[in-house]
Amino acid sequence: MQRVLVTGGAGFIGSNFVHHVLEHTDAVVTVLDKLTYAANREALEMLPEERCTLVVGDIVNEELVDGLVSAHDAVVHFAAESHNDNSLKDPSPFVQTNIVGTFTILEAVRRHGVRLHHVSTDEVYGDLELDDPARFTEATPYAPSSPYSASKAGSDHLVRAWVRSFGVEATLSNCSNNYGPWQHIEKFIPRQITNLVDGVRPKLYGAGLNVRDWIHTEDHSSAVWAILNHGRIGETYLIGADGEKSNLEVVQMILRLMGHPQDDFEHVTDRAGHDLRYAIDSTKLRSELGWQPQYRDFESGLAATIDWYRANEAWWRPKKAAVEAGYAAAGQ
Ligand code: NAD
Ligand code: TYD
Repeated sequence: MQRVLVTGGAGFIGSNFVHHVLEHTDAVVTVLDKLTYAANREALEMLPEERCTLVVGDIVNEELVDGLVSAHDAVVHFAAESHNDNSLKDPSPFVQTNIVGTFTILEAVRRHGVRLHHVSTDEVYGDLELDDPARFTEATPYAPSSPYSASKAGSDHLVRAWVRSFGVEATLSNCSNNYGPWQHIEKFIPRQITNLVDGVRPKLYGAGLNVRDWIHTEDHSSAVWAILNHGRIGETYLIGADGEKSNLEVVQMILRLMGHPQDDFEHVTDRAGHDLRYAIDSTKLRSELGWQPQYRDFESGLAATIDWYRANEAWWRPKKAAVEAGYAAAGQ
């Protein structure tokens, strides 16, 4: 039986991953999470205590991390500051958590010879033109645009260097935009769903032509588990589900699914340095590890996500006013 330490396991993707592992494997999980504003303690409460333990703490805490890493067979590292807009307002926690935190994890796995999987984003590759037939591959050069993506790029480089220089047994993955349950309502899709529940029009940054490549978080989880168990050490795998959509298309799909007219949205101030398009070629992951996404129909995954936010208003409601006040102050 594997003992797996999951950093950031109370966050959106981390908590979905913990559910995935408990449902599909025999592994026992420890979550290390600082419980920042982005955490969902509630997402872990329904899990069996004998298979999932939550340790509240910071990944930059060397002593804490060392003790936990030494008691596990593998670390899956999700913990991060994850929102681009926040990184434009205050980059400092992004550098601390994403870079110094990853360094702290790396030193601990190096000391104890523990297997690491580092979770990252396709945003490290910068952006593509809208009409470019190319998609990101594992060979695409790094060119991050925002403090968030630059801090994630920095963490990726540290992991690669620790593999090469110190023989750390690590794999990396760079995934496209996730959607699904438990995503913080500051993010694009849940913000628009919860706005419509509140009778507020969805907000599109700029013209809304920017393209994101959407993947259901459950598919991200199955890919990470496959890489942790069967990936080649030192390798990077891109994770994507062929889900390219413009932000305008996504908003119009949400409007249709929630019974509103197609033009019932508004344009707001664009994000500074806004990446135009992300697109993932996940051929390596599919051909080497036989991974396939299960959620191939974005519209039905989105409809289920809308149902989830409608059913879980008690969870997101207390956060909504403060999130919208922050956006309003930025003209968004
Ligand atoms: P999230 O913001 O929802 O959750 C992050 C979690 O990390 C939270 O529970 C938070 O409390 C915890 N955390 C933050 N700082 C910490 C610290 N110093 N010590 C311990 N815990 C800390 O993020 P997410 O969307 O679930 O993203 C998880 C990971 O996946 C990140 O590494 C992110 O870069 C990556 N990723 C996200 C997406 C996406 O679409 N959201 C896509 C690709 C990759
Ligand atoms: P986001 O969920 O912040 O993810 P990321 O910046 O990692 O791609 O945003 C997704 C896209 O949606 C991005 O192009 C910015 C845009 N966006 C809006 O148009 N309106 C919004 O209210 C938000 C939060 C994002």
